[in-house]
Amino acid sequence: MRMFDIIAKKRDGGVLERAELEFAITGFVNGSVPDYQMSALLMAIYLNGMTAEETAQLTDIMAHSGDMVDLSSISGIKADKHSTGGVGDKTTLVIAPIVAACGVKIAKMSGRGLGHTGGTVDKMESVPGTQTAVDRERFFEQVNEIGISVIGQSGNLAPADKKMYALRDVTATIDCVPLIASSIMSKKLAAGSDCILLDVKTGNGAFMKTLEDSIKLAKAMVSIGWHNGRKVAALITDMDTPLGYNIGNSLEVMESVQVLKGEGPADLTEVCYQLATNMLYLAGKGTMQECRAMAEQAVSSGAAFEKLKQMFAAQGGNIAVLDDFDQFQKAKFSQQIIADQAGYLVRMNTEMVGNASVLLGAGRATKEDSIDFAAGIVLHKKTGDKVEVGDCLATLYADHEEKFAAAKELFCKALTFADAPAEQPPLIMARVTKDGVEIL
Ligand code: URA
Repeated sequence: MRMFDIIAKKRDGGVLERAELEFAITGFVNGSVPDYQMSALLMAIYLNGMTAEETAQLTDIMAHSGDMVDLSSISGIKADKHSTGGVGDKTTLVIAPIVAACGVKIAKMSGRGLGHTGGTVDKMESVPGTQTAVDRERFFEQVNEIGISVIGQSGNLAPADKKMYALRDVTATIDCVPLIASSIMSKKLAAGSDCILLDVKTGNGAFMKTLEDSIKLAKAMVSIGWHNGRKVAALITDMDTPLGYNIGNSLEVMESVQVLKGEGPADLTEVCYQLATNMLYLAGKGTMQECRAMAEQAVSSGAAFEKLKQMFAAQGGNIAVLDDFDQFQKAKFSQQIIADQAGYLVRMNTEMVGNASVLLGAGRATKEDSIDFAAGIVLHKKTGDKVEVGDCLATLYADHEEKFAAAKELFCKALTFADAPAEQPPLIMARVTKDGVEIL
């Protein structure tokens, strides 16, 4: 077999056989296929696409390029979720304990913040003492004991994806549905869960900006999952405005606790219930209505909050902060942003809002940067709200006063006001399952 022929076949619109994909991917990982040939193949895929079967096989090969986590020593159904990333997206910290409290095991690996979007592992580490680097044996033990563990990605998961992503990043081939879908799903397949619920964020703060593109990506990922023996569904959810009111690591943990106590903001609460319901449904816990009732009961009974505390305690976290937010380390400085015009807040550039929180220290500008866990933004007004002159729009938090000027400028630039309210997208736009797309 020759890489030249594989490239030519895809260039001419052909469908690659599994053996050809294996030759290309394993050769690229072991170094026998050079970057320039892989770049040409990626561009041919970008231009000509892939069938559902081809994409599923590519993903399986990418997943098997490294460790395949074997969760069989954990009894029962294991469920995972993945968000394509957003601002204020703290849903894992709410859904994982709800689902675990309902008897479905959560053995989850999560990521750190990336660009303007936050990451669950950083949020967890804002609870003092929490360990997210946990060895496999202890990880499995914890899930068997209490039904839940969320840790950082460890081991050698889907190295083909890492190498391919780096090449895509410099060859203008990121923005391609089969390549994005196989990249995300290769890591999810390798992580081992039986059921995977995908939260595809859509809007100006998301990786996918339109509903149409999000549905295409969701369909590709759902198809990959089922072709590879996993139960997968996706919700398309709004990211035209941050989720909830708190952006920043410990601020987001606090807001997650509020949801688990039944005191959270309506948007975040509803998105979390819908995601949890769909995870429970995939795990076979009942009808959609029964799963929704189960999720609500886990919150109202306090069982889900208890599960969150058990998880943090098992991973060394000081859970006193979850009962008493005053015990969280506080930012040294805060500054309010006051409205100097009246009107309706009709648009927030959510990516800019996320970047403003990064400027305050809540995220990293480079991979090596450390995070200021207490930094961030608490919104007081969100898209759709009416604003009077003198209203507080947001409070910014940082450990260094000089960080406020640039963050404030970016935050204010992100807001658009108008004299009349504008229609806002629904919170949950669509549900994609193996049976098709339901527009909600
Ligand atoms: N996230 C991923 O993990 N991979 C992509 O290709 C795009 C977003």
